[in-house]
Amino acid sequence: MPVESSVPNDVSLMEKIVNLSKRRGFVFPSAEIYGGFRSTYDYGPIGVQLLRNVKDAWWRSMVQMRDDVVGLDASILSPPAIWEASGHLKNFTDPLVDCRKCHERFREDQLEDPTTCPSCGEKDSFTEARNFNLMFKTQAGPVESDAAVAYLRPETAQGMFINFSNVLQTSRKKPPFGIAQIGKSFRNEITPGNFVFRTREFEQMELEFFVPPEDAQKWYEYWCAERYRWYIDLGIPESRLRMRPHDADELSHYSSGTSDVEFLFPWGWGELEGVANRGDYDLTQHSLHSGEKLEYFDQGLNIRYRPHVIEPAAGATRTMMAFLLAAYDEEEVRGELRTVLRLHPRLAPYKVAVLPLSKKDELTPVAREVLGMLQPLMMCDYDETQAIGRRYRRQDELGTPFCVTVDFDTLEDQAVTVRERDSMEQERVAIADLPGYLLPRLV
Ligand code: GAP
Repeated sequence: MPVESSVPNDVSLMEKIVNLSKRRGFVFPSAEIYGGFRSTYDYGPIGVQLLRNVKDAWWRSMVQMRDDVVGLDASILSPPAIWEASGHLKNFTDPLVDCRKCHERFREDQLEDPTTCPSCGEKDSFTEARNFNLMFKTQAGPVESDAAVAYLRPETAQGMFINFSNVLQTSRKKPPFGIAQIGKSFRNEITPGNFVFRTREFEQMELEFFVPPEDAQKWYEYWCAERYRWYIDLGIPESRLRMRPHDADELSHYSSGTSDVEFLFPWGWGELEGVANRGDYDLTQHSLHSGEKLEYFDQGLNIRYRPHVIEPAAGATRTMMAFLLAAYDEEEVRGELRTVLRLHPRLAPYKVAVLPLSKKDELTPVAREVLGMLQPLMMCDYDETQAIGRRYRRQDELGTPFCVTVDFDTLEDQAVTVRERDSMEQERVAIADLPGYLLPRLV
């Protein structure tokens, strides 16, 4: 289980994470060989595993372990009608101002001093604020016309609302039940930044949970508690996680209650997830705009009603970054600095690294046999370069919970040395017993 990091939670930690990400293959700046491209990022060989494990952990808890939630994977390209109905075409905007002197552009609501340009210092140089819609607009098909306009979805949520009837009919669920989705969303953010915290292309993990209207408050409280616990169970320390209820003036146009799950980032508290009581806003809007009923008929009670929706909406990429920050640790071991990612085993990119003590011909076949035995069961790394100490350090930086070393004694006793990441304790385990030893320690 991860322990609380002793590393200061400041700008230097952020630099260390960005550095580690590049050096070890978690996250690369996108299009780097062309000078980079506007706060976009690529997930490298290690990062893609970590991100996938974050999403799998969410799916496991939200879909696999429940009988009242089903999954969905809806289209990213979507017609304007959806966003007209949802209110995004009208409301999903930021107020922008331009400085008439230096021509820099700012979000009016983020200016510390609304009269002075933070870039050139000019006073009273701002233009009138105008609303800038954050949705990416494109066209579907070869003809540029109004009829061809399409949008990249700015949230996955609408896919669930527009498929409400499809899912209801095919899944045989009834309220309270939920539809879960993980996928990419796109927002033309004015101020992306803080590494992958705010980007224009990102991944969301959202649940729309449909409930009888009278039970909405109960389920809202249930999901606030449930979602908070998810982060704690996966190793975020309580001292760096909080639930923050929104003030009335912060609430989105659809919400009658929202609480954010916030993580203490190096620059302060930042949102990982919003849990919102959306009432019947979305189903009502889509019903009005599409002409479909979008209701549930309760045969037992002989009543028809429009369910209310509780929505826990999390960011996968942002959450991955929070797990990295929380797991990062440094300690002195025999006079040397050891960097270790104390990631929960379920999130660790590799579960085990198989390391022949040396590159000698006798050891390689046995090590490969061990690898072949473990690969069907878990994600493994295999490394036979460099001294064993350096290979352990590399695995510590990747957050690999166990290293399995094949040495010359292995040829005699058919056993290997298993080294645990956090304690660095070593234990001799028979090769045949490895799955039974490792698997229960990885859940
Ligand atoms: N359907 C509701 C919805 O989308 P949101 O608070 O706008 O709510 C949910 O987004 C989560 O998505 C946020 O808590 C955050 O983790 C993530 N997210 C939103 N915008 C993001 C961005 N530009 N970059 C990275 N993650 C983002």
